[in-house]
Amino acid sequence: MAVSRRTFLVRAAQCAFLLAVPPGLAACGGGMTRDDTAKGEGYARISSAIGPERAEILWYASFAPSSHNTQPWTVSIASANRWVVSSSRERWLPEVDPQNRETLVSIGAFVENLVTAAATFGFRIAVEPLARTPFDKELVRLELQNAVRREYPLERLLERRTLRTGFKSDDIDAEDFSFIVGGDDGFYYYRPSSVESVWLDNAAVESMRRQMTRKNVQEELAKWIRWSDADARRYRNGLTPESMDITGLAGWYVRNFYGTGDVLSKDFRNASVERARKQVAESGGWIVVTSRDDSPIALLDAGRRFERMFLKAKDRKIAVHPMSQALEESPWAEKALDVLSLSGKPQLLLRVGYMRDYPGPVSLRMPVSETTIL
Ligand SMILES: Cc1cc2nc3c(=O)[nH]c(=O)nc-3n(C[C@H](O)[C@H](O)[C@H](O)COP(=O)(O)O)c2cc1C
Repeated sequence: MAVSRRTFLVRAAQCAFLLAVPPGLAACGGGMTRDDTAKGEGYARISSAIGPERAEILWYASFAPSSHNTQPWTVSIASANRWVVSSSRERWLPEVDPQNRETLVSIGAFVENLVTAAATFGFRIAVEPLARTPFDKELVRLELQNAVRREYPLERLLERRTLRTGFKSDDIDAEDFSFIVGGDDGFYYYRPSSVESVWLDNAAVESMRRQMTRKNVQEELAKWIRWSDADARRYRNGLTPESMDITGLAGWYVRNFYGTGDVLSKDFRNASVERARKQVAESGGWIVVTSRDDSPIALLDAGRRFERMFLKAKDRKIAVHPMSQALEESPWAEKALDVLSLSGKPQLLLRVGYMRDYPGPVSLRMPVSETTIL
């Protein structure tokens, strides 16, 4: 009896997962989201060591996006105005990101948030590159210098989020594209029905199918999924059901009954491919972010440009969904350069589209005290 009930629930949840349960069913109660988290116990210690404004800068920066939400950065405080941003080895993703490409792009996004937040508090940040290889620990040295306060809507850093469902299929308007990209180079937009977009849609699904056959990739992903609220509260990083858009009945089920082993199950793997297929079917096309090469400096810069663009996307109701798997798997990673006729190296493949609604952020963040070394 217990077995058949469990089987029924599993099927119900998987069905709901595949069919994307409407938010109405969220009556089962949502899981842990960002609203449940505070600045953390150690925050007062950071604030009294470097001052409340500098602590706020670190806090705002922590809302940067990162692959699997690993938040792979640390900041060592040499003095109030001299900081070193490092890459945290235990938060690398050696299976999907063996060259640390995505780690450096993520840390670039974090540096951009630091620089943006600092400017509003009246600090200019001089950024000095330190890393020679993507595996170096220390990446950049920052020096905070007094400057005129810059007006910038800091809520953009808090409200930015990755969206994965609910995209309209309209083309992105040329004026909106130039607004979000600003004057930055290395951005390419492909309309939904273009040859390039069709290739990217197919590459996203087929590379996902390939990844589902790689046990190590699945095991690595499993390590970063926080199925239960207890794990979400404990780690405050990684992917929660809410951040993967598994909500309602399915969300309740996976929060209570899923564990690491389920990521390796055939049902989960099939559902992931099916989800990618449904995602690419609703899209306003793709934006590709390139860099001149794969050097650490170029990757950090790609992350900074990506974040500058991402921060403005909500102003135009444009959803951004990085889908990295095609750059993580052969032959798609190698073919992208030719098919997309790029002059630089592709570093981010972003499915984009206008949203009907723009829900608030749900991904978790570690307390600043866990990523700051005094
Ligand atoms: C370099 C990079 C690669 C990413 N790749 C993917 C991806 O392949 N699939 C996906 O759903 N999200 C991807 N993301 C989005 C992250 O999962 C997301 O940023 C993280 O969970 C935090 O959520 P937030 O962006 O809503 O704050 C990527 C983000 C970055 C910075």
